[in-house]
Amino acid sequence: MQGTPIFLRACRQKKTEYTPVWLMRQAGRFLREYRSLRRRYDFLTLCKTPDLATQVTLMPIKRLGVDAAIIFADILLPLEPMGIDLEFTKGEGPVIHNPPRSRAGVEQLGHIEAEADLAFVMEAIKAVCRELKGEIPLIGFSGAPFTLASYLLEGGGMKDFTRTKSLMYQDPSCWHLLMEKLSAAVCSYLNAQVRAGTGAVQVFDSWAGALSPQDYREFVLPHSQQVFQELPPEVPTIHFATGASGILELMQEAGGDVIGIDWRINLDAAWGRLGYKVGIQGNLDPAALFGPQERIESAVVEILDKAGGRPGHIFNLGHGVLPQTPEENVITMVEAVHRLSKR
Ligand code: CP3
Repeated sequence: MQGTPIFLRACRQKKTEYTPVWLMRQAGRFLREYRSLRRRYDFLTLCKTPDLATQVTLMPIKRLGVDAAIIFADILLPLEPMGIDLEFTKGEGPVIHNPPRSRAGVEQLGHIEAEADLAFVMEAIKAVCRELKGEIPLIGFSGAPFTLASYLLEGGGMKDFTRTKSLMYQDPSCWHLLMEKLSAAVCSYLNAQVRAGTGAVQVFDSWAGALSPQDYREFVLPHSQQVFQELPPEVPTIHFATGASGILELMQEAGGDVIGIDWRINLDAAWGRLGYKVGIQGNLDPAALFGPQERIESAVVEILDKAGGRPGHIFNLGHGVLPQTPEENVITMVEAVHRLSKR
């Protein structure tokens, strides 16, 4: 493990000289440099042009001093080659123009071969890895089957998950067929990213916290578990959800070397419940980065104290960095994590 970057060592719960840190959505709109590139290209063009996606992936590495890069892409990209008409509209976020509304619609969803169907992502991964020279690891990612299913069924904007939960309850066999198709796509997508060179992968089940523990176990867990089982064991995996305090142990059962949590639960309470058998990632409230610098530093101290210097903590926000966040405050946070966690 000597010579292995500290982020990867922490994923394996090995000792590190300090706590590694990166931010979900670090490659995005809070960066001035990103916004300026974005004035010239729309979001999907950035994702689909490996040269541009490479540039955006590297922006936070140069600017913030984080310990890991995350490939610039989106969880919804694999839906396109499955036959979904996807658009990112200004202000509204993603819109799905042809959500499956019947069993036939689910049956029509195509099978993907990510290496070919999402070749632009793999090309960007290879280019980023060449630039990072193994010094900073690159994280690949995907949505979890449930979060993808909810985007697909709700057609974009989500509130009560009525369409998603209705399908679960009214037609469980159609639900499971949809989840099997999505799991297969996720497996193909993540395995292709690993072959292209990512050192770790994160599975975003951002909306799994909307489920009761019983529903998570019946309708979601087997499919997420399938995804983790089909990944090569030598690549560390991070399993992330928000609002997940009711399902933490179930997420652990589904898989992941590291569990990613949001700020609605104390890190020590969450890690204790997981028996310290996995790493933990989190969990600063993204809004904390709007506070004055002293307050950011004290919030960092509080989280580091809760982690108690145990190996296996990866510092992160509890969800993506907000677009209005001042860049200087992120730099303050990263620097504070490194300085205050030094062992
Ligand atoms: O973390 C990173 O910096 C890597 C890139 C990344 C993006 N999206 C780029 C992006 C990652 C890891 C994601 C994950 C993602 N995408 C999730 C899971 C994490 C989460 O936030 O819960 C989800 C649910 C999506 C779907 C998605 N993509 C939404 C809802 C939106 C619109 C709202 C928003 O946050 O912007 C996007 C667009 C998107 N994905 C942007 C970026 C940089 C903004 C596009 C723009 O420039 O306008």
